[in-house]
Amino acid sequence: MRLGPAVLEARSLTVSYGETRAVDAVDLALRPGSRTAIMGPSGSGKSTLVHALAGVVRPDAGEVWFEDERLDQLSEAERSRRRLSRMGMVFQFGDLVPELTVVENVMLPLQVLGEKARPARARALEMLDALGVADLADRRTGTVSGGQVQRAAVARSLVHGPSVVLADEPTGALDSLTAEQVLDTMVAVTSAAGAALVVVTHDHVVASHLDDLVVVRDGRVAEAAVA
Ligand SMILES: Nc1ncnc2c1ncn2[C@@H]1O[C@H](COP(=O)(O)OP(=O)(O)O)[C@@H](O)[C@H]1O
Ligand SMILES: [Mg+2]
Repeated sequence: MRLGPAVLEARSLTVSYGETRAVDAVDLALRPGSRTAIMGPSGSGKSTLVHALAGVVRPDAGEVWFEDERLDQLSEAERSRRRLSRMGMVFQFGDLVPELTVVENVMLPLQVLGEKARPARARALEMLDALGVADLADRRTGTVSGGQVQRAAVARSLVHGPSVVLADEPTGALDSLTAEQVLDTMVAVTSAAGAALVVVTHDHVVASHLDDLVVVRDGRVAEAAVA
């Protein structure tokens, strides 16, 4: 059992879509430096859980605590500000801006934090290099492959040194060797920063790079193995 307070915590978190309880009374505490895989069948509520933890989706009941604040009680603008500045997100279906170049997308979190263009570009290029896609930096994002977009999205989630990284199937479009390299980079960068890492995945090899496992079924935590 790890000591110390959680950086991100769900308490009785519930999110409903009409009759569907996508997330049903979930308790989950993520401590600094923890590495958690979230697994479970399609439609079990993994994406909704991650979106609620990030404050993208507001819960119907329960609480989300991020860095000692009730995230779910903040306004949309305040939640968005916390997410952009202190969290890294990789969305399952991508949300990079197709009209911007790959490196411009990765620079965005740094620019939100007020970093000047030159150092932001240099830092973004380093992160793209770590993910093996530096050669695509100046291509428009809409012209590169799905797997390359995924790696750029991972670079963007890590570039600003967030305290939590939430990645929803970040390696789904990658071959197994590349998937392992991407995971290794995510683990190395978050470990160095003492950040919590959460990865939704169907891939047991990916999950084996993480310490803790949470299995979700029908919106509930069916199984949890915490190191
Ligand atoms: N925006 C939405 N509107 C309505 N139903 C949704 C929405 N998002 C998810 N759901 C439903 O919530 C449940 C959980 O979905 P999701 O969180 O995407 O699961 P997973 O990521 O595990 O595949 C499913 O029944 C899904 O159809
Ligand atoms: Mg999903």
